[in-house]
Amino acid sequence: MARFWVCLAGAGFFLALLVLHSRFCGSPVLRKFAFQISWRTKEIPYRLDVGWPKHSEYFTGATFCVAIDSLSGLVYIAQRGDNIPKVLVFTEDGYFLRSWNYTVDTPHGIFAASTLHEQSVWITDVGSGSYGHTIKKYNSFGDLVQVLGTPGKKGTGLNPLQFDNPAELYVDDTGDIYIVDGDGGLNNRLIKLSQDFMMLWLHGERGTGPAKFNIPHSVTVDSSGRVWVADRGNKRIQVFDKDTGEWLGAWNNCFTEEGPSSVRFTPDGKYVIVAQLNLSRLLLVAAPPVGSIGNCSVIGTIQLADQVLPHLLDVSGKTGAIYVAEIGAKQVQKYVPMNSYFPSFGS
Ligand SMILES: *[C@@H]1O[C@H](CO)[C@@H](O)[C@H](O)[C@H]1NC(C)=O
Ligand SMILES: *[C@@H]1O[C@H](CO)[C@@H](O)[C@H](O)[C@H]1NC(C)=O
Ligand SMILES: *[C@@H]1O[C@H](CO)[C@@H](O)[C@H](O)[C@H]1NC(C)=O
Repeated sequence: MARFWVCLAGAGFFLALLVLHSRFCGSPVLRKFAFQISWRTKEIPYRLDVGWPKHSEYFTGATFCVAIDSLSGLVYIAQRGDNIPKVLVFTEDGYFLRSWNYTVDTPHGIFAASTLHEQSVWITDVGSGSYGHTIKKYNSFGDLVQVLGTPGKKGTGLNPLQFDNPAELYVDDTGDIYIVDGDGGLNNRLIKLSQDFMMLWLHGERGTGPAKFNIPHSVTVDSSGRVWVADRGNKRIQVFDKDTGEWLGAWNNCFTEEGPSSVRFTPDGKYVIVAQLNLSRLLLVAAPPVGSIGNCSVIGTIQLADQVLPHLLDVSGKTGAIYVAEIGAKQVQKYVPMNSYFPSFGS
């Protein structure tokens, strides 16, 4: 079964060659950007690594999310299902290491936050059982070290903090935490917490205007201090200043067919990788280096097979490889950047 999907997705990937395209719109910065790479658009920027992982039989559920700890070379995957391990740990080379399922109910998003002193993995849990409606921090072996929210109880409270279907989180280098809550529940919030869990700022309203949300589904932070949110129900990406929470802009024009499910940067910070779930598609979008974000400009497309359903993805900060959690295909696949296209990623 897994092999079947690998082949289908592989075929889809070569199709990507045909649909790879550039758009020459946007600010002068973007135009220059598009021009610089336009002569290369016949190249495929990524190839599917069909040998990853070495043991795909560990995928026994619906794989909802994946997180890369590139410092330690680890890949964490969370899957849903009955009587199965919920969290799988692989190496970036594809070897299976371990799994756990205690204290995990229904995982949605996952994030690996590693320093030289500590390896940790955070999971957002949308279950309604006794571990649900929470965001949990584990060490690399699955020991639970922190719980945010009220376990088993959904809510809108801020003190104490409560969640309803928390979608994803991002932890930056300083330990500050950015949470999107959530995936179609009571809340439509972007929350910034300090590393000791004090609220620093919040955008908490449902709506279509600036800084309002409809299913904020994925969040990431770039190296110039901007917070990027996949506002899926509003079919846009919104961007905020990470220190003040100030709204910096929104991209609508790339997502008219379907809203973004996942948002992550390439290691050089030049591109945003976006997943579109029902279209089974990944977009490579040019990101302006600083400040307001202008218009959205799609540089390339990776079309996966129909019904693969890419939900959330992560990018290795070391190699630039994209790992995609595919709910429909029930697996995580790895796409490796072509070095001629991304010379700055290293090997
Ligand atoms: C974005 O696109 C709109 C409509 O095409 C255009 O009016 C606007 O000037 C563009 N903005 C930037 C920053 O390029
Ligand atoms: C936990 O995973 C093991 C296999 O690793 C499985 O036998 C067990 O049923 C799972 N438990 C639950 C509650 O899912
Ligand atoms: C994908 O399709 C399903 C089933 O039609 C729908 O419920 C869901 O809202 C869609 N998701 C997105 C992101 O459009």
